[in-house]
Amino acid sequence: MTPSATPVRRPNYWDYIRVEELLALQGGLASDETGLSNDEVLFISVHQVYELWFKLVLRELGVVRDLFRADHVAETALAGAVHGCQRITTILRRCVDHFEVIETLPTAGYLSFRDKLMPASGFQSAQLRQIEILLGLEATDRIPLGAEGDYLAALKDHAGGNSTAFERVQAQLADRPSFLEVFHAWLERTPIDGVALGDEGDVEVLDCFVEAYSAAHGREIDRSHASALERTMGAIDRATLDERYSAEKRALRDFLSPQGEDGPATRRRRAATLFILTYQDLPLLSWPGALVEAVIEMEQALLIFRQRHARMVERVIGRRTGTGGSSGVDYLDQTALRYRIFKDLWAVRTYQIRPEAAPSLERAAFYGFRADSGQSPSATLNG
Ligand code: HEM
Repeated sequence: MTPSATPVRRPNYWDYIRVEELLALQGGLASDETGLSNDEVLFISVHQVYELWFKLVLRELGVVRDLFRADHVAETALAGAVHGCQRITTILRRCVDHFEVIETLPTAGYLSFRDKLMPASGFQSAQLRQIEILLGLEATDRIPLGAEGDYLAALKDHAGGNSTAFERVQAQLADRPSFLEVFHAWLERTPIDGVALGDEGDVEVLDCFVEAYSAAHGREIDRSHASALERTMGAIDRATLDERYSAEKRALRDFLSPQGEDGPATRRRRAATLFILTYQDLPLLSWPGALVEAVIEMEQALLIFRQRHARMVERVIGRRTGTGGSSGVDYLDQTALRYRIFKDLWAVRTYQIRPEAAPSLERAAFYGFRADSGQSPSATLNG
């Protein structure tokens, strides 16, 4: 080593984590926290913590979406996608817990500084909008709002110009496809009873599976129906039960016969979802099954986050109008009820049947099942 060589600068914790910069950010509009109450510094800090969690969710979601962008998703990529979804779920669950911290804010304590926020609102959290867009929530599915009328307008600055929040969301809107779109395309390509989309006879094999599954489902419904009739004590009359169980059969038929331009693709994708969940014990279907579960778990965590936020808000400010101009708790409850992205994953829960009641497959070996030799899977699932 020559005497003139520059010594390597080894980092300290505070250099790497940027602690001082971070601790200087809780001063609110005046950038000075000395005049703020503990309630207000808590309010600002908790929101900042959430924005950091949202940032991590977005990064993770981007990686998961990108894994599915390709026309062929390697089986090994599925484990990465499951892990990514599970990490997002874990973060969202922590977000749910964090509402306990803000609930220590007494109503009176919040009201003493609430006026100065107006019309700022969590409604302007660009990152939550980005998460929704990247997941696949369409603008047409959004609930129309109070004052602003449109979720994008709420992100404009007060002079009506583009804010950084607005630009973030615009960039996210341009960054297609959404995770929902690539996830749907992947489901559509999943081979059903060993026959993939575009293979010879794909439509016939799909029809055959749909028929066999619907028949098996019908038998399961008859079984539950008969048992309900045996146990009914007269509180619910026979005719009501008859109608309820036949409606369940009709609902599956309708679910698997969607109309319109996208009908055939939707039918294939819905059948593939049922197929994966029904036969996920087969080696080649175990990761796809785990992924479907991880996606629904992730969406459930987001729904619980919305519900939990609404209950916290009700406790702190009751049912008054929000600082963003919405109806407040009513609006938030509607988002928890209506903002579903993976709708079919929720729908199939109603139509799943016991594994022992499922129709047998002609080509189970395609999915790595070797009753005689215990060989490892040789096929590739999603080309
Ligand atoms: C005392 C605490 C809080 C109150 C009273 C409150 C109240 C509200 C209200 C009334 C809305 C509806 C929009 C409006 O009209 O303003 C809203 C939206 C929102 N809040 Fe909060 N909030 C609080 C804390 C938080 C925290 C800690 C977060 C963390 C991220 C948060 C995130 C959001 C988001 C993302 C929205 C938009 C929801 C959507 O449009 O789907 N809020 N909040």
